[in-house]
Amino acid sequence: MEVVIVPDAVAGGELIAETIAALLTRKPGALLGVATGSTPLPVYEALAAKAASGAVDVSRARICQLDEYVGLPAGHPESYRSVVLREVVRPLGLGEDAFMGPDGAAGDIAAACAEYDRALAEAGGVDLQLLGIGTDGHIGFNEPCSSLASRTRIKTLTRQTRQDNARFFDSPEEVPHHVITQGIGTILEARHLVLLATGEAKAEAVALAVEGPLAAVVPASALQLHPHATVVVDEAAASGLKLAGYFRDTYAAKPDWQAI
Ligand code: PGA
Repeated sequence: MEVVIVPDAVAGGELIAETIAALLTRKPGALLGVATGSTPLPVYEALAAKAASGAVDVSRARICQLDEYVGLPAGHPESYRSVVLREVVRPLGLGEDAFMGPDGAAGDIAAACAEYDRALAEAGGVDLQLLGIGTDGHIGFNEPCSSLASRTRIKTLTRQTRQDNARFFDSPEEVPHHVITQGIGTILEARHLVLLATGEAKAEAVALAVEGPLAAVVPASALQLHPHATVVVDEAAASGLKLAGYFRDTYAAKPDWQAI
């Protein structure tokens, strides 16, 4: 696992947008797994700016969703489908045909989950999966004690996550209890995992995920199993890392030819 400590969220967004741009230059039809929440927004802003300036051609990119609320009416502005279309797909000038996600309004949720795992595989697999981390260590909506081998399935949100996400809704009670999320096993199939964490509130979860034991109670620790996982953190989110000095030295001495 590589840990890159950046000065702030904007620098983290720029670094990851550069990585995505390099991927799209190498593989124009790459499948990009995107995350919702506040943390990845600087990535999407930086990537949209690169696309607008002509620095990268994103016209053949494909975008897929990590997780989704269950039970929100179709078109609800806070459904993750709506959020990803609004924050990622449209700003990149892409159409809905470039986008895939699980159906949180399906009558048969279990079938919709299995269908999404199949669709990801049929699409050739995710090339780069962007991840956030919950204050409880979740990735996607894999809450603590999610199976490290899990596939896309329904999960119940913790009180903490519902509270963390209440800011997006008119009232805390409106945050759905249930979600569909790519499983940890599904996420681990992406070719490159890039986790971005910013702010002091994420410091403990980051330290446990990066330096703690591999444990289902900290779902993000599953990144330790992946051969190409990059954790990008700002100074505040890095503040709990015992090996911060080593991570800084390693990144500073990195050969120019070696990307994250
Ligand atoms: P946040 O969410 O970026 O809004 O903090 C992260 C997550 O829950 O994965």
